Amino acid sequence: MIMSQTQTKRPSTAPTPPVFELIEVEQEFSVPQPGRSLFNRDTVGLKALDGVRLSIAQGASLALVGESGSGKSTLLRVLLGLDAPSGGRALYRGKPIREARARGTGFARDVAMVYQDARGSLDPRMTVGQLIAEPLRHFNIVRKGEEAARVAQLIDRVGLPTDAASRYPSGLSGGQVRRVAIARALASEPSVLVADEAVSGLDVSTQAQLLTLLRSLQRDMGLTLVFITHDLGVASYLCEEIAIMYLGRIVETGPTDAVLDTPAHPYSAALRAAAPRFFEPIPEPLPGEIPSPLDLPNGCRFSSRCPAAQEDCRLRDPQLGQQGAGRAVACLHPLTSTGAQASETR
Ligand SMILES: Nc1ncnc2c1ncn2[C@@H]1O[C@H](COP(=O)(O)OP(=O)(O)OP(=O)(O)O)[C@@H](O)[C@H]1O
Ligand code: SF4
Ligand SMILES: [Mg+2]
Repeated sequence: MIMSQTQTKRPSTAPTPPVFELIEVEQEFSVPQPGRSLFNRDTVGLKALDGVRLSIAQGASLALVGESGSGKSTLLRVLLGLDAPSGGRALYRGKPIREARARGTGFARDVAMVYQDARGSLDPRMTVGQLIAEPLRHFNIVRKGEEAARVAQLIDRVGLPTDAASRYPSGLSGGQVRRVAIARALASEPSVLVADEAVSGLDVSTQAQLLTLLRSLQRDMGLTLVFITHDLGVASYLCEEIAIMYLGRIVETGPTDAVLDTPAHPYSAALRAAAPRFFEPIPEPLPGEIPSPLDLPNGCRFSSRCPAAQEDCRLRDPQLGQQGAGRAVACLHPLTSTGAQASETR
């Protein structure tokens, strides 16, 4: 449309879409039927994600927490557009993630990943300098003459020694290797950083140094951070928001401090109670084993382990619903701020 000189362009009033939005996302894998014989090729569907709802705003820091097998990595692969969900919608800035990823290098440049196995993700034949220069070149970030200076800048920013550029990953400690992985992730000047257990398996002081680094990067660069961890202490230090997963579904989400101080879902409360604390006896582990996603309990999926389960919990499958300011919980009888159960049911 051609505008006359007297017409002025009105500022757009459309709200900015979240960086990521998951709407009833499902991910079903076809797996061998349990107990099948060697010659039987029958398969069954395993729902690794089942009705996941999540919205991540620009500049947010979100910890994704849950036991092994709860679906954290599967969710991450959907966020990164590596796998298309088998159901629901997964959006990046309002567009389907898979489409955004397929369209040029914009998505790959904007959404950077730090893998759990940082050493395995680095080519052992390349020096640290070459490893950091690779994304600079791939995304055309700087001119050739400026490459060495930018590599040195990134090495300094992540706290590696200045001579690190000429060293190989095999000559670096576990903590230094994670710093190289973070420098590579930052090289493309992303606005989103996604990390899967990026500080696990390190000694406490190295973990603390890396967490301080990640927190300052997130704040200084205004990064949106999605951080997978088993550790509630790490989640509360690094992330303002938390999403707690159980058997393929987010069961509680909200501001990290509020959720950990006064959990509304009995699973969040059990995770918090099971977290080790200094100078206190080793806490009781969570009761029972996480069930197989192929054999979910009827009604609420936490009912087989829930100390607060009531009769209707075996009959109805609770969905994630609002629970106070910025919080949501998937429980028929959420806990109150005193840890008791609310008398009325949802
Ligand atoms: N490619 C696949 N094929 C079949 N099943 C899969 C596949 N990927 C994951 N699963 C299953 O989906 C469920 C969720 O797995 P996922 O790896 O996402 O869990 P996780 O929360 O990341 O666990 P961990 O903390 O151990 O890394 C598990 O039951 C797992 O066995
Ligand atoms: S719905 Fe019932 S079984 Fe499920 S978490 Fe809530 S109280 Fe426990
Ligand atoms: Mg995982």
